[in-house]
Amino acid sequence: MPRSLCQITDLKAAEIQEIFDLCKKMKQKKIAPRPLEGKAVACIFTKPSLRTRVSFEVGIFELGGHALYITDNEIKLGQRESIADAARVLSRYVGMIMIRTFAHSDVEQLAQHASVPVVNGLTDLVHPCQILGDYFTVLEHQPPKDRYKIAYLGDGNNITNSWLNLASLIPLDLRIGTAEDTLPNEAILHKARRNPDSKILLTADPKEAVTAADVIYTDVWASMGQKHLAEEKEKKLSKYQVNSSLLAWADPEVIVMHCLPAERGREITDEVIDGPHSVVFDEAENRLHIQKAIMTFLLK
Ligand code: CP
Ligand code: NVA
Repeated sequence: MPRSLCQITDLKAAEIQEIFDLCKKMKQKKIAPRPLEGKAVACIFTKPSLRTRVSFEVGIFELGGHALYITDNEIKLGQRESIADAARVLSRYVGMIMIRTFAHSDVEQLAQHASVPVVNGLTDLVHPCQILGDYFTVLEHQPPKDRYKIAYLGDGNNITNSWLNLASLIPLDLRIGTAEDTLPNEAILHKARRNPDSKILLTADPKEAVTAADVIYTDVWASMGQKHLAEEKEKKLSKYQVNSSLLAWADPEVIVMHCLPAERGREITDEVIDGPHSVVFDEAENRLHIQKAIMTFLLK
């Protein structure tokens, strides 16, 4: 069976390090592998995207391959035919499949039946490429440390779940500030808590979450597919807004991260996202480098 990346826990800690080493060398242009030479990659999107689509398409091109952008209008995944059959057919044409969709189980089914690697470009449950790129960004911007203090503020969503997945493999002091009914996935939280080298704090107090933090991270309060809940979420989460007064509680060298797209004025203020602590555009750039490294690793 080929290696796929449905979520971060499909990897071992040493493999994450291998991906980071590849990523660094590619970013510094010390190596330029072309594992996709002569191959096409199916990029399936049933949700909108700027960063994931463009960074994958450019990355695939730079690895020697050709990206096919496929929306649900064409394939109607799981409706025109079973996901298993779609996986078997696509595997006869392409060297890899990348997919962004709603149900995480659809990605798992695709990976189970494909004979080529499948990469998750975001589901309702997780966003593995994002958080691998984000941790790489932390390593670039912060001095080496055994366990970074990472404060995540806002909705307990696919981004939060992915940080927790990383914490189950790599030592992290993850401090999640969120409301009682916007918590992350329970099973993923439980798994992260089983890593004795990580510390996981869940708190309703945003100040407690960010105290002495090396990283403050936020994301939209209503994710794709949940925009109808935006008003309700805003009521619950407005006290978790990342603004200058909250930043004052963090380490003076704190970096501020956001996976983007941001809803400026809601989960983060202009002053902070455009301010000196923000690394959001380096973070966005690293999506390209990390995905090239992930694809190269999976095609090994
Ligand atoms: N961060 C991210 O995945 O952005 P897009 O939704 O634009 O792909
Ligand atoms: N939680 C957000 C992340 C976007 C990159 C969403 O799923 O819409």
